[in-house]
Amino acid sequence: MLTQKEIVLGVAGSIAAYKAAEILRGLCRLGARVTVVMTRNATKFVSPLTFQTLSGQKTVCGLFDPVEEFKPEHIALAQKADLLLVAPATANVIGKFAAGIADDSLTSLFLSVRSPIMLAPAMNPAMYANPFVQRNLRILADEGVVIIEPEVGEVACGESGKGRLAPIEDIINQVVEILSGKSPLRQRKVVVTAGPTREYLDPVRYLSNGSSGKMGFALAKAAFRRGAKVTLISGPTSLPRPSVGIEYIPVVTASEMMQALDEHFSSSSVVIMAAAVCDFKPVCRASQKIKKSSSSLTSIELETTPDILKHLGRMKKDQILVGFAAETENVEANALAKLQEKNLDLICSNDLTQKGAGFEGDTNIVTIIDAHRKLLHLPLMSKEKVAEKILDKIEQLLIERFG
Ligand SMILES: Cc1cc2nc3c(=O)[nH]c(=O)nc-3n(C[C@H](O)[C@H](O)[C@H](O)COP(=O)(O)O)c2cc1C
Repeated sequence: MLTQKEIVLGVAGSIAAYKAAEILRGLCRLGARVTVVMTRNATKFVSPLTFQTLSGQKTVCGLFDPVEEFKPEHIALAQKADLLLVAPATANVIGKFAAGIADDSLTSLFLSVRSPIMLAPAMNPAMYANPFVQRNLRILADEGVVIIEPEVGEVACGESGKGRLAPIEDIINQVVEILSGKSPLRQRKVVVTAGPTREYLDPVRYLSNGSSGKMGFALAKAAFRRGAKVTLISGPTSLPRPSVGIEYIPVVTASEMMQALDEHFSSSSVVIMAAAVCDFKPVCRASQKIKKSSSSLTSIELETTPDILKHLGRMKKDQILVGFAAETENVEANALAKLQEKNLDLICSNDLTQKGAGFEGDTNIVTIIDAHRKLLHLPLMSKEKVAEKILDKIEQLLIERFG
């Protein structure tokens, strides 16, 4: 898959540097020619000899090391690289990249490459959450650097949180995606909605549902990995907000979600409504908390919230519009009716009564139905895998529609 591809693998001084050896092996197995560029501090964690032996290429470390060719190594490499992947990227190199500092081989190379650049940060969760690190990542992402977000989990120092290097398989998949560059989603605007909405009765009480937002977040991240420009409009969730590259718009109520969609719909190519929007809201919203003692409240009068999908279905021009149907009975029949009624291109239905499907868990069981009523039954799988399947289907539709 990566034959003829020249990849420069940058390795910085993180405890995760040893994982770069596995990344290197994976890339070489796919046929890439990989040259490793290490920071001086990275050589304290793994020997350059390890990378040299695995890659069959000289490992570049010092900016002022003697060179065989006339050109300095970082310039020669920059000219032939199809991709610069820095994995692991430390807080330090991220800061230097963002500031345009070039005081070693890796940072000098960073400023001279013309190829796509991908960074896979790895660091202690507090370092990763640090506003300066986050600001630097945003600066880089805004300039088109692809950030492969770290995982949430236990890191080497024993702390837990977001900071562990992304799984090696994910990093390699993203390299393949970016270098094969075939996704019709590339550079297209994809809007994803996620999570529940809240419809308030008074300042503290609301109607809502158990949507965790995981499905929508997985879709947004997967679309971003395929090169789409992603806007994620999300109701309240406890998920860490995707920090870089993805435009994030937090909303609370169905009306706010609709307003955000109105702003973004006409400029989008794909809209995926994974949010579980409340269908009803209290007719009146009390301005003060309703007191148990003083109130004679025994029932709540409800009205319907705006039907966002129907509204988008009416506005639709050449957008691909994807809906979700979470049902507890007549799942397929209800999904098909919703597909037609709302003028959707795809509907992803799930049966909330099935074990492993639905709102809060990490897995889902989805059937994807297209406008020709063609059904694709997916078995129980992680929400990340479901997201990939849905995006595969959307890519097919984009190819059918735009070639
Ligand atoms: C044992 C150890 C582990 C470290 N792990 C990380 C890490 O995972 N991520 C990180 O950003 N910094 C880590 N550091 C700090 C960096 O090594 C330090 O910031 C260094 O200046 C990075 O240099 P470089 O970016 O030029 O490679 C670690 C330091 C030590 C001593």
